[in-house]
Amino acid sequence: MGTILQSVTKTFGILTAGGDCPGLNAAIRGVCRAAHDRYDMTIIGIANGYRGLIDGNYRFLKPQDFWGILTRGGTILGASREKPFKASRGEYDNELGGDKVAAIKENYRKLHLDCLVVLGGNGTNTTGYLLSREGLNVVGLPKTIDNDIVGTDRTFGFYSALAIATEAIDRLHSTAQSHNRIMVIELMGHKAGWLALYAGVAGGGDVILIPEIPYDINAIGRHLVKRVQSGKGFSIVVVSEGALSIEEARMEKKERKKYREQTVAPSIGYRVAREIEQEMGMETKATVLGYVQRGGIPSASDRVLATSLGTAAADLLARGEYGRMVALIGNEMGSVDLSVPEGKIKTVPVDHYMIDTAISVGTCMGI
Ligand code: F6P
Repeated sequence: MGTILQSVTKTFGILTAGGDCPGLNAAIRGVCRAAHDRYDMTIIGIANGYRGLIDGNYRFLKPQDFWGILTRGGTILGASREKPFKASRGEYDNELGGDKVAAIKENYRKLHLDCLVVLGGNGTNTTGYLLSREGLNVVGLPKTIDNDIVGTDRTFGFYSALAIATEAIDRLHSTAQSHNRIMVIELMGHKAGWLALYAGVAGGGDVILIPEIPYDINAIGRHLVKRVQSGKGFSIVVVSEGALSIEEARMEKKERKKYREQTVAPSIGYRVAREIEQEMGMETKATVLGYVQRGGIPSASDRVLATSLGTAAADLLARGEYGRMVALIGNEMGSVDLSVPEGKIKTVPVDHYMIDTAISVGTCMGI
C-alpha cells in the first residue's frame, strides 16, 4: 500500500446510469482503487443509477467489491435511465412529498456525501450538471458505445463495440458472398453515426449510412448496380440506427414518426433492406446487431481509457474540483466544466476525415 495522500473529499457516492457498456467496471475500479488506496476515502455505491439515489438504495463499498472487476462487462452497481428532472414535480410518491430531485438532495445529505461521481452518457452527465446547480458536488465521467459526448475526444465502450461490430461485418461478408446477397447490418449509436462509420470502414462496408448524411436510395441503388456490373454480386450495407432518408430528413419529427408507423419495418435496417430489394430486385437480408454491441469484456484500449478516467476522477475528488467531467483531451487526461456536455450530442462532422477515408476506398455514403 502506498502513502495515503491528503484529500478534500472524505466520502463520495458513485453511480452508473444510462446504457451500460464494456469498461464501466474498469472505470469504477479506477475511481475506487485510487480513492481508497491513495486517498483513504469512504465509498458509497448507489444502485441502478439515479433511481438508487432517489430510493436510498446504496451500500458501502469495500476493496473486495472493486477488486477483480477490470475485465467484467456491465456494471456491478446496476444502471437505469431514470431522469429525475424529467418528471413533473409531484409525480414521484415518497415521504419527501413526491419530488425526485428533493429525494436525491435529501439522500445526498443523509449519506453525508462530499461529492457524487456519475458515470454515464449525455443524459447522465446532464443530470449531474443540473444537480450541481442545485448545490450538490458532482464529478462526471463519460461512457458510452456511441462516442457522442461533447467535451471528451473518445468515450470508453466505443472501441469495444467497434470490435464487436467489425467482427459481425466480417462474418456477414462470407455469407453475403456465398449467396450473392446484399446484407444490411444495423448498428447502435443513437443519433450519432460514429460506430457505423468506423465499423463500416474497419469491416469494408460498401455502403455506410449515418444520421448526419440523409441517404438517397437511388444513389445507393446506382452504387450497388455498379458493383454487380463489376462482377461483385454481393454487398455489405452498414446502417446506423439513427440514419434517415432525404425524404424523412425533410419531415418534422411527428410527421416522420407517423410515416414510419405506416411502414411495417421494425427499424431502419429492415426499411433500407426492403427499399434496396424493391429498387434493385436483389435478394437483401437485414441483421440488427443490437445489444451484443454493449455486452462482454472491454477491449484493451477501453480498459486503459476507463481506468485512466477513473483515477483522474479520484484526483479531482481529492483536490475538491467539483462540477467537472473528466475527459480525454488529445492524448491527455483532462476535465471540462459539467456544462460542456449538458444537453448536447457530438455528431460526426460532415467534413470529418473518416468520411473522406471511406469515400476514398470506394464506399458509398448514401448520396
Ligand atoms: O446509448 C447507448 C445505446 O446503446 C444507444 O446506442 C442505443 O440507442 C440505446 O443505448 C438503447 O437504449 P436502451 O438500452 O434503453 O434500449
